[in-house]
Amino acid sequence: MCGIIGLFTGCQAVTFCPRASARVDPAASSASAAGPADEYRSPFRSWYDRASVRRAPRRTGDTAEDPVHYFPPDHVPVAAHPLVKALAPDLFEQVLIQHLYRYQDFTSKLEHLVVNRTAMGIAHGTIGVRLPEEMRLDAYKVYCDEAYHALSAAEVIQQVRDRTDVEPRLPAQPYFLTRLEQILQSCDQDLRPLVEILFVVVSETLISGNLADIPDDPGVLPMVSEVVRDHAVDEGRHHTYFAIFLRHLWGQLDERTRRRAGRYVPQLIETFLAPDTESIEAELRDYGMGRDQAAQVVAEVFSRETVLAFGQAAARQTVRHFAGLGVLEDPRTAEEFHRYGLLEPASATSAPVPALREQ
Ligand SMILES: [Fe+2]
Ligand SMILES: [Fe+2]
Repeated sequence: MCGIIGLFTGCQAVTFCPRASARVDPAASSASAAGPADEYRSPFRSWYDRASVRRAPRRTGDTAEDPVHYFPPDHVPVAAHPLVKALAPDLFEQVLIQHLYRYQDFTSKLEHLVVNRTAMGIAHGTIGVRLPEEMRLDAYKVYCDEAYHALSAAEVIQQVRDRTDVEPRLPAQPYFLTRLEQILQSCDQDLRPLVEILFVVVSETLISGNLADIPDDPGVLPMVSEVVRDHAVDEGRHHTYFAIFLRHLWGQLDERTRRRAGRYVPQLIETFLAPDTESIEAELRDYGMGRDQAAQVVAEVFSRETVLAFGQAAARQTVRHFAGLGVLEDPRTAEEFHRYGLLEPASATSAPVPALREQ
């Protein structure tokens, strides 16, 4: 679901749902860059009837009984570790609640601060990509959806905090935003707007983990499950839309710009998929876990092999979209995808990743 899937890196319960990939327009992943003659078949044809912002009731936990958990433990990577399982029950529940907060905070900031900047640019034709008029109008729908997802996420945090008195331990800015800023700083200035747009494309096409499992979990607060489900349904349309958008965008870039920008894609994918081990370790220490033990949990849950395997599976569809446009035909770009473990075999990623200044 958007790039949020990175928060579930290492989670054994997350599978990569074939239903999610089935929602992707196959033409969008296999065709070469779109030309002006391409017809646009909008994934938003039923938006007025089906979008969560249009049809879903407000999700609240007001009348719900206390749940077994505020978030399913099998969707919280560190919760599977024996040292975390051994925490007192109230502390173990706090681990789940803080994961829920991180997830919702990530959602809210991603949608408002990043995705909607690009959606607005597409809607108003200010990002320099020629698109069918219907695609521009659909960007207004993306904007409405994402604004609603951000609001729903913020309300989940507020309501769970009020029910549990567990205060969110959230950074001033989620780690993905810090990483994005670092990547943009490392880019040549003329490339920054394009790399930011590619970040949105990556975010919107990273395949949803099987978070649809959450709505079926009877032990979880219904509001949490409902908000996740509402969001997942909308994101199926977004995935299709941004795969088509990428074809238009790529088709209008010159060869040199494609090469320069394409080399950043693996970093953009990694930005979402690498776990924020520092803050998770700090959180575990706050529960009274020793420094060595907290480090051990993080090292074992987020082993290099686990992170690479998860990233490869989560990004498979995104990589296909770029590969279908010929992005991997540039040897240096293909090497970058290998370095980040995004292509088989994952073991080809052991070399350090260089900065991408050279053109
Ligand atoms: Fe969203
Ligand atoms: Fe989205």
